[in-house]
Order: sequence, then structure tokens, then C-alpha cells
Amino acid sequence: AGSAILQGKRVLVTAGGTIERIDPVRYITNDSSGKMGYAIAEEAARMGAQVTLVSGPTALPVPKGCQLVPVKSALDMREAVLSRLDASDLIIKAAAVADYRPAVIEPQKIKKKSDSLTLELVKNPDILQEIGTLKKEQFVVGFAAETEKLDEHALDKLQRKNCDLIVGNDVSQEGAGFSGDTNAVRIFDRNGLVEALPVQSKQAVARRLLEIAAARMKPKR
Ligand code: PMT
Repeated sequence: AGSAILQGKRVLVTAGGTIERIDPVRYITNDSSGKMGYAIAEEAARMGAQVTLVSGPTALPVPKGCQLVPVKSALDMREAVLSRLDASDLIIKAAAVADYRPAVIEPQKIKKKSDSLTLELVKNPDILQEIGTLKKEQFVVGFAAETEKLDEHALDKLQRKNCDLIVGNDVSQEGAGFSGDTNAVRIFDRNGLVEALPVQSKQAVARRLLEIAAARMKPKR
């Protein structure tokens, strides 16, 4: 049994990819399976936390002891997360949120007509950035999925989105990133690298990440 280092803490985890609808039968999404976020939620519950898991559509069972809040689009996820901000002590954003969504959701199935079709996309709100602006005592952990210049891009996201920690994820590395059961990450705070975790199970990455976060959280008054 794990130690109860998150006893009494309210933990909000986001997981999976969002889906951005084009018409009644089509949508845009990404390769996130939800495994990383679900592993974090499950391990946090084992460490004694009260866990809310805000998740895009996945094929995974709800982890033991977690409350699932299913969402589809980035806008849904934003609403689910921001409405629970004040009731969270630790927020971990492992979800792969779509940066853009179709400008309009066509009410009817788009008909095949011309030889080319242009889809107009508009920017989604950055949920993590909004949390960074609104947060009070909450401890906020972001993720950064990168295919190049991992450290530089991760540190830039940490600053811009005002996170306490950021988990740099080189998704082009063998055994790391989307879909598989393993991951390898580099965890940063404002001062630079905190810890590098070589390829290991997403469950083990989740445990170590939660230990690092728990040790840095303010004790409850
Ligand atoms: O789900 P798996 O298959 O297990 O894969 C795990 C993972 C690769 C998805 C995960 O480890 C990971 O890296 N998640 C972050 C993916 C991502 O979208 O990264 P990003 O660099 O685009 O976004 C940076 C951070 O901002 C993330 O915490 C993201 O949740 C957040 N964000 C991004 C865009 C947006 N509109 N709102 C956000 O909150």
C-alpha cells in the first residue's frame, strides 16, 4: 500500500484528448489515449486524495476511487475545470487539449461536392493559462508535449502559463508520449530541471510526479 501523502487533498486531473466536432458525424482529435492522466488519477487516489478526473473520450475504465467528469470538446473541458478550481488543492493537466476547433459546427452532414474543401479553425481558450491567472493557493502542474527543444519549450510554457511544475514530454522519444503504457519525462520548476525520469511505466511516472508535487505543496491551515 502506498503512503497517504495526499490525504485530505482534493486533486483535479485532466486526461485524454478533446474532440472538436465538424458536423454530426465527423470530428478532429489527437492521439491521446488518456493513460497518463488516468495513471495519475489512480495513484493520487491510492495516496489518499479525493480525485476528480475530467476526461475526454477514452477506452479506459474509471480508476478506483476517482470521480469521473466526462467531457468532449476543449470548451466542455474548460467549463468542467474552471467550475472546480476553487474546490481543488492540486491540479494536474495531462490532457491533450485541441489548440483549434472548427469555426462552425455544421448542423447537417457536409456533402461531398468540390475537389477541395477548406475547414476554418479558430483558437480554443488555453485552459492551463486561465488557471495560471486565476489560481490562489492551488498547486498547478502542466504538461508540455514536444517534438523538439523539449527543455526550452517546456520552460517557456511553465512561465507563460504560470505553473508550479511542468512535465516536459518528448513525444518523439521511443517508449514515451502518446498511447503506450510507458513514458519518459523531464520535470521542471521555475529554476530549471527538478528531475528526469527515464522510460518507465506511466504508473511509475505518475507516482514520482505526485511525490514531487506533494512535497512542494503548502500544508493546509
Ligand atoms: O494520454 P496518453 O496517450 O497517455 O498520452 C499522454 C500525453 C502525451 C497526452 C501526456 O503525457 C501529455 O504530454 N499531455 C499534454 C499534451 C498537450 O497537449 O501538451 P501541450 O504542450 O499542447 O499543452 C501544454 C499544456 O497546456 C498541457 O498541460 C495542456 O493540457 C494545456 N492546454 C493546452 C491547450 C489548451 N487549449 N488548453 C490547455 O489547458
